[in-house]
Amino acid sequence: MGNVYVLDHPLIQHKLTYIRKTETGTKEFRELVDEVAGLMAYEITRDLPLEPVEIDTPVTKTTSHVISGKKIGIVPILRAGLGMVEGVLRHVPTAKVGHVGLYRDPETLKPHEYYFKMPTDINERELIVVDPMLATGGSANDAISSLKKRGATNIKLMCLIAAPEGVEAVKELHPDVDIYLAALDEKLNEKGYIVPGLGDAGDRLYGTK
Ligand code: URA
Repeated sequence: MGNVYVLDHPLIQHKLTYIRKTETGTKEFRELVDEVAGLMAYEITRDLPLEPVEIDTPVTKTTSHVISGKKIGIVPILRAGLGMVEGVLRHVPTAKVGHVGLYRDPETLKPHEYYFKMPTDINERELIVVDPMLATGGSANDAISSLKKRGATNIKLMCLIAAPEGVEAVKELHPDVDIYLAALDEKLNEKGYIVPGLGDAGDRLYGTK
């Protein structure tokens, strides 16, 4: 519990290089984020419990295994988290998707939740909170706190790139949450961007500025 996993699989690292590059355009960026999220889904679901089932193959009867009724929820933090949803759903097609939208009031610095819509049974689900960038950790911490307040007890956080500051902030407030990353970068700069990072993930996903 509360561990940080950097998924250093060559396919993930290769695709992440192209995600980072300035010259990668919106279409390719979106496709690559989707692919990396899918590859990360393999690792994040590694501990799902299996149960045996008896089946007939064309050759014989045998015992094989299926995932044993564990319910999964994917929770993108709006808006950049949306770019990671389909990649996870491709491998876990029965997962439900909840959405959370937050911003910090610039004056009070208190989180303001402008959107929160979850499956009704989040207390029974393993929730995977997705957001490409874990910068200060503020949004991830606020989203996880919101989920816990509504009864969620089993939460994982999956991001493409994190700054050490963000990882420490989440570990401190939510030590029960495992964090899965494609890369742990150097630092945050004075503008709050992760260095070397990839720039603004939402803008690059959706072609905005
Ligand atoms: N959010 C982003 O999209 N990029 C960063 O580098 C930091 C926060």
